Amino acid sequence: MSGPGLKHVDSHSAIHEAALNEAIELNELLEKLMDNNELEKAHEAAYVVVEHWETRTLQHAQSEEEGLYKELVEEDPELKDQITMLTRDHDILRMLVTEIKDMLDEDGFSDAVLQRFQSLVIVDKIHNREEERLLPHH
Ligand SMILES: [Fe+2]
Ligand SMILES: [Fe+2]
Repeated sequence: MSGPGLKHVDSHSAIHEAALNEAIELNELLEKLMDNNELEKAHEAAYVVVEHWETRTLQHAQSEEEGLYKELVEEDPELKDQITMLTRDHDILRMLVTEIKDMLDEDGFSDAVLQRFQSLVIVDKIHNREEERLLPHH
């Protein structure tokens, strides 16, 4: 989605919340599998969680960079630095996802993988809050 949908703070924050709630639930599932020592199942499930991040949040981030962020800077060039910082947040999310995929491919599931999934939730939560502050509130 781009344009008016993402520019409106209410519909945009609803997208953030839905994706984050799903991610939190998926993390809880991974945690349960790990507690039960079902590492093979956790390994498989972790790829589904990676897909969740790629198809929801990273896709959303890309749409923002291609549309919304450009529009915001065009309308108000003073936002440029803040948009650069928000784009860097997206990069950190991307780096974490790449790191998780490499870890899963090389060593399977581990507590370190779960920690990175939890980090994604925390970074994304802060990012969303800052992003929503930049959107027009009217
Ligand atoms: Fe974003
Ligand atoms: Fe967003």
